[in-house]
Amino acid sequence: MAALRLRLGILASGGGSNLQAIIDACKSGWLDGEVRVVISNTPEAGALQRARAEGIPSFRLSSRTNPDPEDLDRAILRTLREQEVEWVILAGYLKKLGRETLESFRGRILNIHPALLPKFGGPGMYGQHVHQAVLAAGEKTTGASVHLVDEQYDHGEVIAQREVPVQEGDTPATLAARVLETEHALLIDTLRRISEEEPARQNGPLPRSR
Ligand code: GRF
Repeated sequence: MAALRLRLGILASGGGSNLQAIIDACKSGWLDGEVRVVISNTPEAGALQRARAEGIPSFRLSSRTNPDPEDLDRAILRTLREQEVEWVILAGYLKKLGRETLESFRGRILNIHPALLPKFGGPGMYGQHVHQAVLAAGEKTTGASVHLVDEQYDHGEVIAQREVPVQEGDTPATLAARVLETEHALLIDTLRRISEEEPARQNGPLPRSR
């Protein structure tokens, strides 16, 4: 059966390099997909600038724009639906999704995390904190994980992981830079796999791979 074109909605709070990796993969034809919308909670997010530069609809939705959490949840869900999004990707998004969005897209929301979950995940484990913790624990190997999103931070089923060796003399910054490159590759490879397996997937869960 022919692969389906993935219609993606990206939520991001930061610089948006993972978003850019997805955009570039779509543009080059590596990934049969399309970023339909970018949502950020922060107006300064590089992700919003990248979306604007690519002509992708982008929105700031946050507790500032929508102070009532249920209203914010509905605004995010409405925005994703208006752009006919099928898969939601949290690419450096630092907020939790609300109940309605989670329920509407359950099994179709992915997060990229810069460590080998379940290690070094959960509340407070974001950005440099993750890499500091990896180094403090004396780990020899770290990596990146893509997992399904549920109500808890970094908690849903891991569907793909890739390892990154920790090197002598690594600092949180050097490690973060190498892991980030791996995140980009893992994310677009995982999305490609989903685009290829989508018809089969209706009969069962996505198999885990490395
Ligand atoms: C990445 O390390 C991602 O795993 C984490 O936040 C970082 C975002 O990077 N959750 P970017 O905004 O995609 O450049």
